Amino acid sequence: MTASGDAATVMRRCDVLGTFGEEPGRLTRPFASPAMVQVHEYVTSWMREAGMAVRKDNVGNLLGRYEGVDGGSSTLILGSHLDSVRDAGRYDGPLGVMVAIAAVQRLHDSASRLPFAIEVVGFADEEGLRYGTPYLGSRALAGTFAVTDLTHMDAQGVSLADAIRTFGGDPARLAADRWHGGNLLGYVEVHIEQGPVLEARDLPVGIVSAINGQARYRLTFTGEAAHAGTTPMNRRRDALVAAAEFILVVEAEARETEGLVATVGQLAVSPGAVNVVPGQAVLSLDVRHADDKIRLERSSRLLQGAREIAARRGLSVESEPVAENRSVPCSPRLAALLEQAVQELGHPALTLGSGAGHDAVVMAGITDVAMLFVRCKGGISHNPAESVTEEDVAVAIDVLGKFLELSATKS
Ligand code: GLV
Ligand code: MN
Ligand code: MN
Repeated sequence: MTASGDAATVMRRCDVLGTFGEEPGRLTRPFASPAMVQVHEYVTSWMREAGMAVRKDNVGNLLGRYEGVDGGSSTLILGSHLDSVRDAGRYDGPLGVMVAIAAVQRLHDSASRLPFAIEVVGFADEEGLRYGTPYLGSRALAGTFAVTDLTHMDAQGVSLADAIRTFGGDPARLAADRWHGGNLLGYVEVHIEQGPVLEARDLPVGIVSAINGQARYRLTFTGEAAHAGTTPMNRRRDALVAAAEFILVVEAEARETEGLVATVGQLAVSPGAVNVVPGQAVLSLDVRHADDKIRLERSSRLLQGAREIAARRGLSVESEPVAENRSVPCSPRLAALLEQAVQELGHPALTLGSGAGHDAVVMAGITDVAMLFVRCKGGISHNPAESVTEEDVAVAIDVLGKFLELSATKS
Protein backbone atom coordinates (compact mmCIF):
# COMPACT_ATOMS: atom_id res chain seq x y z
CA MET A 1 0.00 0.00 0.00
CA THR A 2 1.37 3.46 -0.86
CA ALA A 3 0.66 6.53 1.17
CA SER A 4 -2.26 7.76 -0.96
CA GLY A 5 -4.49 4.84 0.08
CA ASP A 6 -4.24 5.81 3.73
CA ALA A 7 -6.32 7.84 6.16
CA ALA A 8 -3.79 10.67 6.50
CA THR A 9 -4.10 11.28 2.76
CA VAL A 10 -7.89 11.27 2.97
CA MET A 11 -7.76 13.82 5.80
CA ARG A 12 -5.31 16.00 3.86
CA ARG A 13 -7.43 15.81 0.72
CA CYS A 14 -10.57 16.83 2.62
CA ASP A 15 -8.56 19.81 3.94
CA VAL A 16 -7.51 20.75 0.40
CA LEU A 17 -11.06 20.51 -0.99
CA GLY A 18 -12.30 22.51 2.00
CA THR A 19 -10.34 25.52 0.79
CA PHE A 20 -12.42 25.84 -2.40
CA GLY A 21 -15.56 27.85 -1.84
CA GLU A 22 -17.43 30.84 -3.19
CA GLU A 23 -17.49 32.96 -0.04
CA PRO A 24 -14.47 34.49 1.65
CA GLY A 25 -13.56 32.84 4.92
CA ARG A 26 -16.13 30.07 4.78
CA LEU A 27 -16.78 26.91 2.84
CA THR A 28 -19.74 27.41 0.54
CA ARG A 29 -19.50 25.34 -2.62
CA PRO A 30 -22.66 25.35 -4.71
CA PHE A 31 -23.52 23.29 -7.74
CA ALA A 32 -21.55 24.13 -10.93
CA SER A 33 -19.57 26.93 -9.27
CA PRO A 34 -16.00 28.05 -10.09
CA ALA A 35 -14.97 26.45 -6.77
CA MET A 36 -16.35 23.16 -8.07
CA VAL A 37 -14.13 23.48 -11.18
CA GLN A 38 -11.09 23.64 -8.89
CA VAL A 39 -12.33 20.69 -6.85
CA HIS A 40 -12.78 18.66 -10.03
CA GLU A 41 -9.17 19.33 -11.06
CA TYR A 42 -7.87 17.87 -7.81
CA VAL A 43 -10.28 14.96 -7.65
CA THR A 44 -9.57 14.08 -11.29
CA SER A 45 -5.86 13.85 -10.58
CA TRP A 46 -6.43 11.68 -7.48
CA MET A 47 -8.76 9.38 -9.40
CA ARG A 48 -6.18 9.01 -12.18
CA GLU A 49 -3.45 8.31 -9.64
CA ALA A 50 -5.65 5.45 -8.38
CA GLY A 51 -5.83 3.94 -11.89
CA MET A 52 -9.23 5.28 -12.89
CA ALA A 53 -10.41 6.62 -16.24
CA VAL A 54 -12.19 9.90 -15.49
CA ARG A 55 -15.10 11.62 -17.20
CA LYS A 56 -17.55 14.36 -16.38
CA ASP A 57 -21.20 14.04 -17.39
CA ASN A 58 -23.57 16.77 -18.55
CA VAL A 59 -25.00 17.64 -15.15
CA GLY A 60 -21.47 17.90 -13.73
CA ASN A 61 -20.91 14.62 -11.89
CA LEU A 62 -17.28 13.49 -11.88
CA LEU A 63 -16.95 9.74 -12.53
CA GLY A 64 -13.81 7.62 -12.21
CA ARG A 65 -13.87 4.05 -13.52
CA TYR A 66 -11.62 1.25 -12.32
CA GLU A 67 -12.08 -1.70 -14.63
CA GLY A 68 -12.68 -5.23 -13.38
CA VAL A 69 -10.88 -8.40 -14.42
CA ASP A 70 -12.83 -9.09 -17.56
CA GLY A 71 -13.46 -5.53 -18.61
CA GLY A 72 -16.25 -5.44 -16.03
CA SER A 73 -19.64 -6.68 -17.18
CA SER A 74 -21.06 -5.54 -13.82
CA THR A 75 -20.32 -2.35 -11.90
CA LEU A 76 -20.40 -1.34 -8.26
CA ILE A 77 -20.83 2.41 -7.74
CA LEU A 78 -19.16 4.12 -4.78
CA GLY A 79 -19.41 7.80 -4.02
CA SER A 80 -20.92 10.83 -2.39
CA HIS A 81 -21.22 14.53 -3.22
CA LEU A 82 -18.73 17.35 -3.77
CA ASP A 83 -21.05 20.34 -3.22
CA SER A 84 -21.72 21.84 0.20
CA VAL A 85 -24.20 23.83 2.23
CA ARG A 86 -23.46 27.46 3.15
CA ASP A 87 -20.67 27.78 5.74
CA ALA A 88 -20.13 24.03 5.67
CA GLY A 89 -17.77 21.57 7.24
CA ARG A 90 -15.24 19.81 5.04
CA TYR A 91 -16.40 16.20 5.40
CA ASP A 92 -20.11 16.13 4.50
CA GLY A 93 -19.85 14.63 1.02
CA PRO A 94 -16.13 14.83 0.14
CA LEU A 95 -15.18 12.27 2.83
CA GLY A 96 -17.18 9.57 1.03
CA VAL A 97 -15.53 10.35 -2.30
CA MET A 98 -12.04 10.43 -0.77
CA VAL A 99 -12.54 7.13 1.11
CA ALA A 100 -13.78 5.50 -2.10
CA ILE A 101 -10.72 6.74 -4.01
CA ALA A 102 -8.46 5.46 -1.21
CA ALA A 103 -10.06 2.00 -1.41
CA VAL A 104 -9.52 1.92 -5.19
CA GLN A 105 -5.96 3.20 -4.71
CA ARG A 106 -5.23 0.14 -2.59
CA LEU A 107 -6.51 -2.16 -5.33
CA HIS A 108 -4.42 -0.29 -7.89
CA ASP A 109 -1.28 -0.37 -5.75
CA SER A 110 -1.55 -4.13 -5.31
CA ALA A 111 -2.40 -4.55 -9.02
CA SER A 112 -5.69 -6.17 -7.99
CA ARG A 113 -8.67 -6.40 -10.28
CA LEU A 114 -12.08 -7.46 -9.00
CA PRO A 115 -14.62 -9.53 -10.93
CA PHE A 116 -16.57 -6.28 -11.38
CA ALA A 117 -15.75 -2.69 -12.26
CA ILE A 118 -15.91 0.13 -9.71
CA GLU A 119 -17.18 3.55 -10.61
CA VAL A 120 -16.43 6.29 -8.07
CA VAL A 121 -18.84 9.22 -8.42
CA GLY A 122 -18.38 12.72 -7.03
CA PHE A 123 -21.96 13.95 -7.31
CA ALA A 124 -22.52 17.49 -8.56
CA ASP A 125 -25.21 18.48 -6.08
CA GLU A 126 -26.74 16.78 -3.10
CA GLU A 127 -27.51 19.75 -0.86
CA GLY A 128 -29.61 21.80 -3.27
CA LEU A 129 -27.94 25.00 -2.08
CA ARG A 130 -28.00 26.83 -5.41
CA TYR A 131 -31.40 25.80 -6.81
CA GLY A 132 -33.26 24.61 -3.71
CA THR A 133 -33.91 21.20 -5.27
CA PRO A 134 -31.48 18.60 -3.91
CA TYR A 135 -29.86 15.64 -5.68
CA LEU A 136 -29.34 17.24 -9.12
CA GLY A 137 -26.32 14.99 -9.73
CA SER A 138 -27.71 11.66 -8.60
CA ARG A 139 -31.05 12.36 -10.29
CA ALA A 140 -29.26 12.74 -13.62
CA LEU A 141 -27.40 9.45 -13.07
CA ALA A 142 -30.59 7.68 -11.97
CA GLY A 143 -32.52 9.07 -14.95
CA THR A 144 -35.02 10.96 -12.77
CA PHE A 145 -33.87 14.50 -13.50
CA ALA A 146 -36.95 16.67 -14.15
CA VAL A 147 -36.27 18.77 -17.25
CA THR A 148 -38.80 21.29 -15.94
CA ASP A 149 -36.20 22.12 -13.25
CA LEU A 150 -33.93 23.56 -15.95
CA THR A 151 -35.83 26.86 -15.81
CA HIS A 152 -35.23 27.27 -12.06
CA MET A 153 -33.29 30.44 -11.24
CA ASP A 154 -30.58 30.88 -8.64
CA ALA A 155 -30.34 33.98 -6.42
CA GLN A 156 -28.42 35.81 -9.17
CA GLY A 157 -31.04 35.03 -11.83
CA VAL A 158 -28.96 32.33 -13.59
CA SER A 159 -31.10 29.46 -14.85
CA LEU A 160 -30.15 25.88 -14.07
CA ALA A 161 -29.77 25.27 -17.82
CA ASP A 162 -27.26 28.14 -18.09
CA ALA A 163 -25.36 26.99 -15.01
CA ILE A 164 -24.97 23.54 -16.60
CA ARG A 165 -23.76 25.14 -19.87
CA THR A 166 -21.22 27.32 -18.07
CA PHE A 167 -19.91 24.24 -16.27
CA GLY A 168 -19.34 22.54 -19.65
CA GLY A 169 -22.44 20.33 -19.88
CA ASP A 170 -25.26 20.23 -22.39
CA PRO A 171 -28.66 20.60 -20.67
CA ALA A 172 -30.36 19.13 -23.74
CA ARG A 173 -28.41 15.90 -23.26
CA LEU A 174 -29.08 15.18 -19.57
CA ALA A 175 -30.85 11.97 -20.54
CA ALA A 176 -27.45 10.68 -21.70
CA ASP A 177 -26.19 10.94 -18.11
CA ARG A 178 -28.51 8.13 -17.05
CA TRP A 179 -26.60 5.02 -16.08
CA HIS A 180 -26.04 3.00 -19.26
CA GLY A 181 -23.01 0.93 -18.20
CA GLY A 182 -24.83 -2.38 -17.88
CA ASN A 183 -25.59 -4.45 -14.79
CA LEU A 184 -25.26 -2.65 -11.46
CA LEU A 185 -24.27 -4.50 -8.29
CA GLY A 186 -25.22 -1.61 -6.04
CA TYR A 187 -24.32 1.83 -4.75
CA VAL A 188 -22.32 2.18 -1.53
CA GLU A 189 -21.79 5.54 0.16
CA VAL A 190 -19.49 6.34 3.06
CA HIS A 191 -20.60 9.49 4.92
CA ILE A 192 -20.12 11.17 8.27
CA GLU A 193 -22.97 10.29 10.60
CA GLN A 194 -24.02 13.92 11.18
CA GLY A 195 -25.61 12.78 14.43
CA PRO A 196 -24.58 11.66 17.95
CA VAL A 197 -25.25 7.91 17.95
CA LEU A 198 -21.80 6.50 17.10
CA GLU A 199 -20.05 8.86 19.47
CA ALA A 200 -22.42 7.89 22.29
CA ARG A 201 -21.76 4.20 21.58
CA ASP A 202 -18.01 4.78 21.22
CA LEU A 203 -17.93 3.23 17.74
CA PRO A 204 -15.91 4.37 14.72
CA VAL A 205 -18.45 3.33 12.09
CA GLY A 206 -22.03 2.11 11.74
CA ILE A 207 -24.20 0.55 9.07
CA VAL A 208 -27.26 2.45 7.86
CA SER A 209 -30.59 0.62 7.90
CA ALA A 210 -32.75 3.25 6.16
CA ILE A 211 -32.78 6.92 5.19
CA ASN A 212 -35.65 9.11 6.38
CA GLY A 213 -38.06 10.64 3.90
CA GLN A 214 -37.90 14.37 3.33
CA ALA A 215 -40.11 17.09 1.90
CA ARG A 216 -39.17 20.67 1.10
CA TYR A 217 -41.63 23.52 0.51
CA ARG A 218 -41.42 27.23 -0.22
CA LEU A 219 -44.08 29.40 1.46
CA THR A 220 -44.85 32.99 0.59
CA PHE A 221 -46.85 35.11 3.04
CA THR A 222 -48.14 38.25 1.37
CA GLY A 223 -49.54 41.17 3.37
CA GLU A 224 -49.03 44.85 2.77
CA ALA A 225 -45.91 46.97 3.13
CA ALA A 226 -46.70 50.05 5.19
CA HIS A 227 -45.12 52.93 7.10
CA ALA A 228 -43.66 51.74 10.42
CA GLY A 229 -44.33 55.07 12.13
CA THR A 230 -47.85 55.82 10.98
CA THR A 231 -49.63 52.49 10.52
CA PRO A 232 -51.57 51.58 13.69
CA MET A 233 -50.95 48.08 15.00
CA ASN A 234 -54.54 47.01 14.37
CA ARG A 235 -54.36 47.99 10.69
CA ARG A 236 -51.21 46.11 9.78
CA ARG A 237 -50.96 43.09 7.53
CA ASP A 238 -47.43 42.17 8.56
CA ALA A 239 -46.09 39.21 6.57
CA LEU A 240 -43.12 38.64 8.86
CA VAL A 241 -45.25 38.38 11.99
CA ALA A 242 -47.43 35.79 10.23
CA ALA A 243 -44.29 33.89 9.23
CA ALA A 244 -42.99 34.07 12.81
CA GLU A 245 -46.25 32.62 14.12
CA PHE A 246 -46.02 29.85 11.53
CA ILE A 247 -42.42 29.03 12.49
CA LEU A 248 -43.50 28.48 16.11
CA VAL A 249 -46.31 26.20 14.89
CA VAL A 250 -43.72 24.20 12.93
CA GLU A 251 -41.56 23.81 16.02
CA ALA A 252 -44.52 22.79 18.20
CA GLU A 253 -45.77 20.22 15.68
CA ALA A 254 -42.35 18.60 15.43
CA ARG A 255 -41.84 18.58 19.19
CA GLU A 256 -45.20 16.90 19.68
CA THR A 257 -44.68 14.21 17.03
CA GLU A 258 -42.28 11.41 17.91
CA GLY A 259 -39.51 11.18 15.29
CA LEU A 260 -40.60 14.25 13.31
CA VAL A 261 -38.07 17.00 12.55
CA ALA A 262 -39.18 20.20 10.83
CA THR A 263 -37.06 23.23 10.05
CA VAL A 264 -37.43 26.72 8.63
CA GLY A 265 -33.88 27.45 7.46
CA GLN A 266 -34.43 30.36 5.10
CA LEU A 267 -36.47 33.52 5.51
CA ALA A 268 -36.45 36.47 3.13
CA VAL A 269 -38.33 39.59 4.14
CA SER A 270 -39.28 42.35 1.79
CA PRO A 271 -39.02 45.19 1.28
CA GLY A 272 -36.55 44.70 4.17
CA ALA A 273 -36.21 48.19 5.62
CA VAL A 274 -36.11 49.24 9.28
CA ASN A 275 -39.05 51.60 8.91
CA VAL A 276 -41.35 49.51 6.70
CA VAL A 277 -43.86 46.93 7.90
CA PRO A 278 -42.90 43.76 5.98
CA GLY A 279 -45.18 43.17 3.01
CA GLN A 280 -43.86 39.77 2.07
CA ALA A 281 -42.02 36.88 3.74
CA VAL A 282 -40.74 33.89 1.81
CA LEU A 283 -39.56 30.93 3.81
CA SER A 284 -38.37 27.37 3.37
CA LEU A 285 -39.84 24.40 5.19
CA ASP A 286 -38.04 21.05 5.52
CA VAL A 287 -39.99 18.13 7.07
CA ARG A 288 -38.58 14.65 7.75
CA HIS A 289 -39.68 11.38 9.36
CA ALA A 290 -38.82 7.70 9.00
CA ASP A 291 -42.48 6.97 8.23
CA ASP A 292 -43.65 8.66 5.00
CA LYS A 293 -47.31 8.51 6.03
CA ILE A 294 -46.69 10.47 9.23
CA ARG A 295 -44.46 12.95 7.37
CA LEU A 296 -47.08 13.59 4.68
CA GLU A 297 -49.89 13.93 7.23
CA ARG A 298 -47.94 16.38 9.38
CA SER A 299 -46.76 18.34 6.34
CA SER A 300 -50.28 18.90 5.11
CA ARG A 301 -51.34 19.89 8.65
CA LEU A 302 -48.55 22.47 8.71
CA LEU A 303 -49.56 23.89 5.34
CA GLN A 304 -53.17 24.09 6.55
CA GLY A 305 -51.87 25.87 9.66
CA ALA A 306 -50.13 28.44 7.44
CA ARG A 307 -53.41 29.11 5.60
CA GLU A 308 -55.25 29.58 8.90
CA ILE A 309 -52.64 32.00 10.25
CA ALA A 310 -52.72 33.99 7.01
CA ALA A 311 -56.54 34.12 6.92
CA ARG A 312 -56.77 35.24 10.55
CA ARG A 313 -54.30 38.06 9.88
CA GLY A 314 -55.86 39.17 6.58
CA LEU A 315 -52.92 37.94 4.49
CA SER A 316 -52.57 35.38 1.75
CA VAL A 317 -50.13 32.48 1.67
CA GLU A 318 -48.95 30.31 -1.19
CA SER A 319 -47.05 27.07 -0.75
CA GLU A 320 -45.01 25.34 -3.38
CA PRO A 321 -43.55 21.84 -3.07
CA VAL A 322 -39.82 21.98 -3.84
CA ALA A 323 -38.73 18.41 -3.18
CA GLU A 324 -40.32 15.15 -2.11
CA ASN A 325 -38.27 12.08 -1.27
CA ARG A 326 -39.75 9.00 0.30
CA SER A 327 -37.83 7.10 2.98
CA VAL A 328 -35.49 4.51 1.54
CA PRO A 329 -34.48 1.19 3.10
CA CYS A 330 -30.91 0.07 2.53
CA SER A 331 -30.33 -3.29 0.86
CA PRO A 332 -30.21 -6.13 3.44
CA ARG A 333 -27.77 -7.97 1.13
CA LEU A 334 -25.26 -5.09 0.97
CA ALA A 335 -25.80 -4.13 4.63
CA ALA A 336 -25.01 -7.72 5.65
CA LEU A 337 -21.73 -7.54 3.72
CA LEU A 338 -20.85 -4.25 5.41
CA GLU A 339 -21.70 -5.79 8.79
CA GLN A 340 -19.47 -8.76 8.04
CA ALA A 341 -16.66 -6.41 6.99
CA VAL A 342 -16.99 -4.34 10.19
CA GLN A 343 -17.01 -7.46 12.37
CA GLU A 344 -14.08 -9.12 10.60
CA LEU A 345 -12.10 -5.97 11.34
CA GLY A 346 -12.87 -6.42 15.04
CA HIS A 347 -15.59 -3.81 15.58
CA PRO A 348 -19.18 -4.26 16.74
CA ALA A 349 -21.59 -3.82 13.81
CA LEU A 350 -24.15 -1.25 14.88
CA THR A 351 -27.08 -0.53 12.58
CA LEU A 352 -28.64 2.95 12.69
CA GLY A 353 -31.07 5.07 10.71
CA SER A 354 -30.17 8.24 8.80
CA GLY A 355 -31.98 11.47 9.52
CA ALA A 356 -30.03 13.24 6.78
CA GLY A 357 -30.69 12.83 3.07
CA HIS A 358 -28.05 11.27 0.84
CA ASP A 359 -27.45 10.54 -2.84
CA ALA A 360 -28.25 6.92 -1.93
CA VAL A 361 -31.93 7.99 -1.73
CA VAL A 362 -31.98 8.68 -5.46
CA MET A 363 -29.62 5.87 -6.45
CA ALA A 364 -32.08 3.44 -4.81
CA GLY A 365 -34.25 4.05 -7.88
CA ILE A 366 -31.81 2.12 -10.08
CA THR A 367 -29.91 -0.24 -7.79
CA ASP A 368 -29.50 -1.61 -4.26
CA VAL A 369 -27.95 0.91 -1.87
CA ALA A 370 -25.94 0.74 1.34
CA MET A 371 -24.23 3.28 3.56
CA LEU A 372 -21.44 3.27 6.09
CA PHE A 373 -21.47 6.10 8.63
CA VAL A 374 -18.30 7.45 10.23
CA ARG A 375 -18.42 8.92 13.75
CA CYS A 376 -18.25 12.71 13.85
CA LYS A 377 -17.40 14.90 16.81
CA GLY A 378 -20.40 15.97 18.87
CA GLY A 379 -22.67 14.78 16.06
CA ILE A 380 -22.15 18.24 14.53
CA SER A 381 -22.60 18.75 10.79
CA HIS A 382 -23.65 21.51 8.36
CA ASN A 383 -21.26 23.56 10.41
CA PRO A 384 -17.55 24.40 9.97
CA ALA A 385 -16.89 22.59 13.28
CA GLU A 386 -17.58 19.25 11.55
CA SER A 387 -14.80 16.89 12.63
CA VAL A 388 -13.72 13.27 12.17
CA THR A 389 -10.59 11.48 13.39
CA GLU A 390 -7.92 9.96 11.21
CA GLU A 391 -8.30 6.71 13.18
CA ASP A 392 -12.00 6.45 12.32
CA VAL A 393 -11.31 7.29 8.68
CA ALA A 394 -8.73 4.48 8.64
CA VAL A 395 -11.44 2.09 9.86
CA ALA A 396 -13.80 3.31 7.12
CA ILE A 397 -11.19 2.69 4.40
CA ASP A 398 -10.45 -0.78 5.81
CA VAL A 399 -14.17 -1.62 5.99
CA LEU A 400 -14.76 -0.50 2.42
CA GLY A 401 -11.74 -2.51 1.27
CA LYS A 402 -12.97 -5.59 3.12
CA PHE A 403 -16.47 -5.05 1.72
CA LEU A 404 -15.00 -5.05 -1.82
CA GLU A 405 -13.07 -8.25 -1.04
CA LEU A 406 -16.20 -9.96 0.31
CA SER A 407 -18.26 -8.74 -2.66
CA ALA A 408 -15.65 -10.19 -5.02
CA THR A 409 -15.95 -13.62 -3.47
CA LYS A 410 -19.76 -13.50 -3.70
CA SER A 411 -20.13 -12.20 -7.24
C1 GLV B 1 -28.45 16.97 3.28
O1 GLV B 1 -27.45 17.00 3.98
C2 GLV B 1 -29.74 16.95 3.88
O2 GLV B 1 -30.06 16.00 4.62
O3 GLV B 1 -30.48 17.92 3.68
MN1 MN C 1 -25.33 17.82 3.93
MN1 MN D 1 -24.11 14.84 2.57
